Amino acid sequence: MNVPLLDLQSQYALLRDELRQAVEKVMDSQRFVLGDEGRRLEASVAQYVHAKHAIACASGSDALLLALMALDVSAGDEVITTPFTFFATAAAITRLGARPVFVDIDPATYNLDTSRVADVITSRTKAIMPVHLYGQCADMDPLLAIGNRVPIVEDAAQAIGATDRSRQAGAMGAIGCFSFYPTKNLGGAGDGGMLTTNDDNLAQRLRRLRNHGGANEYEHSEVGINSRLDELQAAVLNVKMPHLDKWSNDRARKAAAYSEMLDNAGLSFELITPVVRDGARHIFHQYVIRVPRHRDALMEHLKRRGVGTKVYYPIPLHRQECFAYLRYKEGDFPESERAARETLALPVYPELTEAQQSHVVDAIKSFEP
Ligand SMILES: Cc1ncc(COP(=O)(O)O)c(C=O)c1O
Repeated sequence: MNVPLLDLQSQYALLRDELRQAVEKVMDSQRFVLGDEGRRLEASVAQYVHAKHAIACASGSDALLLALMALDVSAGDEVITTPFTFFATAAAITRLGARPVFVDIDPATYNLDTSRVADVITSRTKAIMPVHLYGQCADMDPLLAIGNRVPIVEDAAQAIGATDRSRQAGAMGAIGCFSFYPTKNLGGAGDGGMLTTNDDNLAQRLRRLRNHGGANEYEHSEVGINSRLDELQAAVLNVKMPHLDKWSNDRARKAAAYSEMLDNAGLSFELITPVVRDGARHIFHQYVIRVPRHRDALMEHLKRRGVGTKVYYPIPLHRQECFAYLRYKEGDFPESERAARETLALPVYPELTEAQQSHVVDAIKSFEP
């Protein structure tokens, strides 16, 4: 049996006719940028994440960049974030000439250890960027306790619908950033992103910045970028949006089933299943296990049995060549480095069948280091 890490075909089969009709409607309208589909998506995302405003843009990466631009982050500033995340998080900071200041992760959740953030705030700190990794929110209380002193940009690219003590990902800080990359829980047919905020002024600024800084066509109050979500993407996402909550619940159910089976499997090697923090809704964008000594060998073993797996992320950002100028060294963030060596994502998606899941668990059980 083959169990891919993600199977987009099975979701497409479910919505094929509706999706094709939605795309055809946009084609018939010949309205491709900043139209009704985009506005409808903005309204439903704002409602879903309990934010006053939602502003669509071209990708999650652009959402991060726009958020920092709206907070006037520029050369010489510092932005605090995690080194154990997708590249785009720190890239947005450096694109503006600012410096990413990394803080290590909590080894239980792989999220930024927010209890250590206050210690590294300086007069140059312009923002804090927690990442809600794998679909679980970073512990936001210590960051919210810092108050208005330093604005928070939530990288919620992997976490639409996740909550931390009933507070929605993307609506806790100054600005929330989402990605609609096709593999996300809510994925488009290409790139797409969204910004959320409860602040009227930031919302207005973000709308300008995503459209070349223009309040009106050919009148530019500042320099922005071209980062709009096109109508074809918005139409696809509007079809999928009503299913998102059920899909994320299905993922969480499959995750609980994995953990139940793996925790009781009597394995001959150490395997640690994901920790869901008290009071959190984890939407399981990824189901990530920790295998302290045998991760790579287990990965090979699963590959031979037709099970797709992936490491998110094999190289922490402070060890990336392009960030060598930051002068971090090996050992600076030991938990991030250990997570990069020990973690492994297993297949999880709403359409994953019980038989497929059993196959994955049986394949893990048959591994003998
Ligand atoms: C944590 C995180 N931040 C940012 C991004 C960037 O989003 P996008 O791929 O839509 O540019 C991603 C997505 O891949 C992500 O996982």
